[in-house]
Amino acid sequence: METRETKPVILLFTFPLQGHLNPMFQLADIFFNRGFSIIVIHTEFNSPNSSKFPHFTFVSIPDGLSEPESYLDVIEFIHNLLSQEPTAACVIVDAHWYFTDGLTEKFGIPRIVLRTVNLSAFVAFSKFHVLGEKGYLLLQESKADSPVPELPYLRMKDLPWFQTEEPRSGDKLQRGTMKSLKSSSGIIFNAIEDLEPDQLDQSLKEFPVPLFCIGPFHRYISASSTSLLTQDMTCLSWLDTQEPNSVIYASLGSIVSIDESEFLEIAWGLRNSNQPFLWVVRPGSIHGKELIEILPKGFIESLQGRGKIVKWAPQPEILAHRATGGFLTHCGWNSTLEAICEAIPLICKPSFGDQRVNARYITDVWKIGLHLENKIERLEIENAVRTLMTSSEAEEIRKKILLMKETAEQCLKLQGSSFRNLEKLIAYILSF
Ligand code: UDX
Repeated sequence: METRETKPVILLFTFPLQGHLNPMFQLADIFFNRGFSIIVIHTEFNSPNSSKFPHFTFVSIPDGLSEPESYLDVIEFIHNLLSQEPTAACVIVDAHWYFTDGLTEKFGIPRIVLRTVNLSAFVAFSKFHVLGEKGYLLLQESKADSPVPELPYLRMKDLPWFQTEEPRSGDKLQRGTMKSLKSSSGIIFNAIEDLEPDQLDQSLKEFPVPLFCIGPFHRYISASSTSLLTQDMTCLSWLDTQEPNSVIYASLGSIVSIDESEFLEIAWGLRNSNQPFLWVVRPGSIHGKELIEILPKGFIESLQGRGKIVKWAPQPEILAHRATGGFLTHCGWNSTLEAICEAIPLICKPSFGDQRVNARYITDVWKIGLHLENKIERLEIENAVRTLMTSSEAEEIRKKILLMKETAEQCLKLQGSSFRNLEKLIAYILSF
């Protein structure tokens, strides 16, 4: 029988943000279920709750990772760990740990990178330098809606990096990430190649390393939650009291923050739609204010039970609930994929990074949602909610997302694309 000492060990180096921890832990569980022993390397900041994962070993690295001077110490720290693990088979790092180039070289094992975005966003990020040379990184309001010839479907305003008056900002991170991806032993995506075949071909041309699309991760097994905030479970009993497909769920993920006026436009838009809504307003997500200070007096009473506002929610369960019929989202890839897997149509309010690319694909390519293109205004939100939840226009959207859900289910079945890619990935790791 294999023991902890004889099983192949995978070390996973997590990045301490919710949208990165979730897929990394789901991946860890996938490998654990395939017979690997798991060591999770994490920062003290936003450290995961180890008691929920008694089957993993947790190792904490000292904080201060924002300082490049500490990178060498981290490398040395992981080298020490590796030298104590004779059956270490692989290290998986989040793509944001771009300084881990060459990390595993002297141990003769692969360093594989988890990229938490989808392939469409990945391709867009990979064009950073080409587009930078063409001046596309400069902020030009007048060209916001112009197409990007190098990236079909995308407009200038959809580019996934900050367009600033100082185009060099972000340059170091982009260059470092690209270099680290290209020198890796392979890249894992929480994506489905059948949904993005052209982007896979393009990525393969640009990246001379094996690419493994094995998503949707959260559908392999029901793993424990890695939520950093406490999920308000009363959402579920409230949803139980609502009609099927009637509730619009609204959440802008774990990082996005909005200003007070945007918040109020969303509040009135949701209320005026007359549709029941469940809204996550994360603490700290409104610039400089807390929810209770901003909500107009009498707002909650005026809803007459039609709306519920919580600080953090059990999102996967909400999307799976029969009462949920639509999702107003910031279009983070985890949220988008979770919605696709439940066939919940979307209203897109992207903020930055890959969210903008995802929003464009959701509305113009996959046609599974509506885009709040302009300044956030209550009437626009009210109309979008009505259109999505009650109009016949949304029928096509529902049909399209149902087809995507079926693809997401098929790809995990025997001989489905993600199933096959996972087999290849495991064989690849064990071949070193
Ligand atoms: C960001 C990027 O936008 C994303 O595309 C990238 O891959 C990671 O960083 P984030 O803002 O965290 O992500 O959004 P998202 O990718 O959607 O992840 C949020 C996660 O938090 C989801 O898994 C979601 O289920 C969970 N969540 C969100 C909750 O558990 N409760 C909530 O109330 C809201």
